[in-house]
Amino acid sequence: MKSTYVILAAGLGTRMNSSLPKVLHPVYGVPMIQSIVSTVKRLAPGKIIVIAGRHVDGMKKVLNDRDIVYARQKVQKGTGHALRSARKELRHCKGTVVVLNGDTPLITAKTIREFLLRHHKNRNFVSVLSFRAQNPDSYGRILRDSSRNVLAVIEERDATLRQKKIREVNSGIYALHPGALGFLDEIKMNKKKKEYYLTDIVDIALRRGKRTAAYCIGHEREFLGVNTKQELLQATRFMKERIINHWIARGVYFIDEDSVYIHPDAVLGAETTLYPNVFIDKQSIIGKRVTIYPNVRILSSAIGNDVIIKDMTVIEGSVIKNKALIGPFAHIRPDSEIGSEARIGNFVELKKTVIGKKTNAAHLSYLGDAVIGRHVNIGAGTITCNYDGKSKHVTTIGDYAFVGSDSQLIAPITVGKGAYIGAGSTISKDVPSWALALSRAEQRKILNWAKKKFQTTGRKKKSKTGRKKEA
Ligand code: UD1
Ligand code: CA
Repeated sequence: MKSTYVILAAGLGTRMNSSLPKVLHPVYGVPMIQSIVSTVKRLAPGKIIVIAGRHVDGMKKVLNDRDIVYARQKVQKGTGHALRSARKELRHCKGTVVVLNGDTPLITAKTIREFLLRHHKNRNFVSVLSFRAQNPDSYGRILRDSSRNVLAVIEERDATLRQKKIREVNSGIYALHPGALGFLDEIKMNKKKKEYYLTDIVDIALRRGKRTAAYCIGHEREFLGVNTKQELLQATRFMKERIINHWIARGVYFIDEDSVYIHPDAVLGAETTLYPNVFIDKQSIIGKRVTIYPNVRILSSAIGNDVIIKDMTVIEGSVIKNKALIGPFAHIRPDSEIGSEARIGNFVELKKTVIGKKTNAAHLSYLGDAVIGRHVNIGAGTITCNYDGKSKHVTTIGDYAFVGSDSQLIAPITVGKGAYIGAGSTISKDVPSWALALSRAEQRKILNWAKKKFQTTGRKKKSKTGRKKEA
């Protein structure tokens, strides 16, 4: 039977000193709550319930996921009270209920899987996932008897000096038999904090003679609870290291791994090399043996194999096919597609433009709303005039066409297959296949024109105070 996952995320996060709800703070570019939901989704969950406070709408917007059910905790009265707020959503739940804290973004699916395996194997009523902390200060301590059986979880502020020395702490992840949900009503308010602690469920289950255990598994790093901005930075560092190491192990080479950013959902192919200051943003797939030179940003794009992207290039929402050469200083705007072995060079801007195989636009061009065939040459300074002040129009250029430098193509327009456009032309009518189109004033020559000009005006004398003289 599938497990139900409940993520506690209604806390105010006062220690963050921020107007943004704690669980919406990004860790390495991904809001904490989203990281947890992604992890949960890898566990083939039944229902996913998020407990939200007054920021529920913001949370829904960020997560944008119809599979999630939200429960409101109107007043924040602690983690026990938070889980109780989902009573209605948990009513018909028959499988295990897995509870997670929304501020623990580094937790891995592997550890949760291992934890649930133990919970089910031992047929526990209540299980707690614990870990050994270097510094246990901000976590609840796991109390055990002399036979190592768990007795209770005790929070820092309620612990004795001796208990405070315990290094085994509560991760905030629990597995509950649905029958244990009834115990939530028995949790008493903690007098010091005036909150209902979910951790008290351990003690209650034990007193009822129910099988209860704490499993100390996983690595400390993945349980880092983010309560302060300091911990947010620490979590970000951990996440970054995890992602970079993941790609290094898969054959990606970083010249300076400290200066690059790889979004957690990006995918990189083996033998790809990233130079310093490369920024690979979300929804990006980079192929094998790709070289990305410094200061390149790629967002929501698919880059094929053996592509070279030179310095200072931005690629957004586009597809680049195998062996293409892009940049330096290229701007590939959304909905563009660049064919294999094509070359898009210095100061070329593309928008919603398809470029065919082996087509070149190597210098200083704007190509917008264009469909350009294969083996086309787009000369330096070519502009598609796609906007008439009201709407956008399409430029179509056939295979093997040659567009001379400094030409303007006034859309809507079609340049036929193999046609030539003479340099410096403004083309406003369709050009048939294999034709030559020219539109420029014919060249005149006026012999000795410059000589005559000098004879009448003379050369200007240099100023007495001019720099040249001074020097
Ligand atoms: C909690 C545990 C502690 C554990 C630690 C692990 C309790 C009492 N303590 O402490 O044993 O070691 O997590 O990181 O459970 N929340 C709500 N509603 C509330 C209060 C909190 O939804 O009324 C949510 C928060 O948004 C957060 C999570 O529950 O995601 C944990 O709350 P937090 O206040 O951070 O608990 P800790 O003090 O860290
Ligand atoms: Ca916390």
